[in-house]
Amino acid sequence: MAFNLKNRHLLSLAHHSTEEIEFLVRLAAQLKQAKYSGTEQHMLTGKNIALIFEKASTRTRCSFEVAAHDQGAHVTYLGPSGSHIGHKESMKDTARVLGRMFDGIEYRGFHQSVVEELAEYAGVPVFNGLTDEFHPTQMLADALTMQEHSHKPFHHISFAYVGDGRNNMGRSLLLLGAKLGMDVRIGAPEGLQPDADLVEQCQKWAEESGGQVFVTASAEEAVRDVDFIHTDVWVSMGEPVDSWAERVDTLVPFQINDDLVRATNNPRVKIMHCLPAFHNSETTVGAQIAKTYPQLANGVEITESVFESPACIAFDQAENRMHTIKAVLVSSLA
Ligand code: CP
Ligand code: NVA
Repeated sequence: MAFNLKNRHLLSLAHHSTEEIEFLVRLAAQLKQAKYSGTEQHMLTGKNIALIFEKASTRTRCSFEVAAHDQGAHVTYLGPSGSHIGHKESMKDTARVLGRMFDGIEYRGFHQSVVEELAEYAGVPVFNGLTDEFHPTQMLADALTMQEHSHKPFHHISFAYVGDGRNNMGRSLLLLGAKLGMDVRIGAPEGLQPDADLVEQCQKWAEESGGQVFVTASAEEAVRDVDFIHTDVWVSMGEPVDSWAERVDTLVPFQINDDLVRATNNPRVKIMHCLPAFHNSETTVGAQIAKTYPQLANGVEITESVFESPACIAFDQAENRMHTIKAVLVSSLA
């Protein structure tokens, strides 16, 4: 391997260089090709990985499990209930227990400070599977997916994220774009824009990488001429349900619909969503939202027609979660 990421944590990507991020994306592409061609080698035989999920997950959990199994490793799942974490045992103590048994630990939860404390005390690599602030494994999948769909180097790719710019996806995409020298725009209403400290830090990274960082309260301005538009749910896991009223009021102009896609002026623009998405009212929550806000019956942050159009590459992103998480595990634990 060209880069030595052995025993490295993955907490936010803030501590990874441009070259290290590019390396992880390249390694993921190689592992994907190896799986497709039936030439994958087990590089994690005998390793044990703990998966802590204090929030729900479909993609992240399955990606860690399949990636580990493909590489010959074993996983132990600790869900939101059933362990002592948080109720009877602190994260500091949990870290020191799990670090004695496992070779690596994945953590999905609330505050970033918790995954950082876990990393400080576990003595083994810790991988952030989503916190309120960051979603770094999703970023690697998004980078691989954008590369597969553009055939341009990262520093020639432009993308916008529209929606809640303060959430883990808005913040992480800003960071990713800045680190990779991309042209990254955040379209979010004032009050839902990434905090000034993060924007300032990302501007510094963008200066170093030759990228561009732009935050605007106009969705149309954010998406003009971009190669990709990303979005995410308007209310994230852990946020109070009564946030919906205020979010709907401010975020309706940031919905990805046919008009916003046309506003890119790019007939080849691709649409991305980390999933799960509210694109119709076929889920329990989607139906509740549609009942309260009938104007959102055909989609909340993204409309059904855009989601189901050929421009939407959300399921390629979902698959790439597994290949990129495998690259993280192999690079750190092999
Ligand atoms: N995108 C993502 O993290 O999905 P899950 O919540 O299903 O893991
Ligand atoms: N912002 C979303 C991302 C889900 C993958 C959440 O935190 O719920």
